[in-house]
Amino acid sequence: MANEDEDNIVLNVKELYAGYGRIKILHGINLELRKGTITVLLGTNGNGKSTLLKCLAGMLRPDAGNVILKLGEGEKSISLIGKKPFEVVEKGVSLVPEGRRLFGNLSCGENLAMGAFSAPARKNLKTNLNRVYELFPILKERKNQLAYTMSGGEQQMLALGRGLMSNPRILLIDEPSIGLAPVIVSRVMAAVKELRDKFGLSILMTEQNLLQASKIADKGYVMIHGKIVSEAVSGKLMDADFVRSQYLSK
Ligand SMILES: Nc1ncnc2c1ncn2[C@@H]1O[C@H](COP(=O)(O)OP(=O)(O)OP(=O)(O)O)[C@@H](O)[C@H]1O
Ligand SMILES: [Mg+2]
Repeated sequence: MANEDEDNIVLNVKELYAGYGRIKILHGINLELRKGTITVLLGTNGNGKSTLLKCLAGMLRPDAGNVILKLGEGEKSISLIGKKPFEVVEKGVSLVPEGRRLFGNLSCGENLAMGAFSAPARKNLKTNLNRVYELFPILKERKNQLAYTMSGGEQQMLALGRGLMSNPRILLIDEPSIGLAPVIVSRVMAAVKELRDKFGLSILMTEQNLLQASKIADKGYVMIHGKIVSEAVSGKLMDADFVRSQYLSK
C-alpha cells in the first residue's frame, strides 16, 4: 500500500545542490511532483526558482543530488542528471521558460512548429497542434502574426502552446503570470488548469502570485535562499502561516 503513493510521483528531486561556479544557489532541495497534479513553487525574486527548473530541464548541471523521473506504471525510473536539454524533452519533460523566450520575428504558427523538434513530437505534430488550437483558439486566429506583435497574454498562451507541441507529460512553467494584468493572469491560470484536467499533464509551476496560483494548485512549496522552507496542500495554501513563510527569510 505504501508503494501506491510512491507510484504517483513522476518527478522526485532529492537533495539537489546547484549554482553558477562558486556561487551556490540551491542547498539541498527535496520536492515531489505527483502525476496529474499542479505543484506550485513559490518564492520572491532571486530565491532560486528558475535555477531549480533549469536543473530539471538539463540546462544547468547540479553539483549534487538527484532528479528521478518515473512517468508511468511499468516504466523504469531514470535519473535526469547529466541529460542534455533535448534528451529531457524526449523523455517527456518540457520547460516553458521565464519571459516566454519566443522567436519574435517568426509567426505564431512558426513558433508552435519550433516546439515540435523531438522525434515523438514530430510524429504527433498534427494531434498536438489540434490540442493547442482547442485550448487556445486565439492562437489559430493569430497563426500568421509575428510573435513580437502579439499581446503579453497571447504571448504567454503561445509559450504554453509551444511547450505542448513538444509532446510532454510533465510541463515545467516558469512564472507564467509575470507582467500580465490580473484578468489575463486568471485566463492563463485557467489554461494551466485545463492542461492538467483535460490533458492529464503533471505540472510544476513557479509563481510569485500566490492568490492566483492557490486557486489551481494541488500542492505548494515555498523556496527561500535556495531551500524549501514550507509546503502545503490545496486548501491550506492561503493559511496565514504558509502565506507568511513566502515573505520571511529564515
Ligand atoms: N547565469 C547566472 N550566473 C550567476 N548567477 C546567476 C545566474 N543566473 C541566476 N543567478 C543568480 O542566482 C540567484 C537565483 O536566481 P533565480 O533566477 O534562480 O531566482 P528566481 O527565484 O527565479 O527569481 P525571479 O523570481 O526573479 O525569477 C540570483 O541571485 C541570481 O542572481
Ligand atoms: Mg525566475
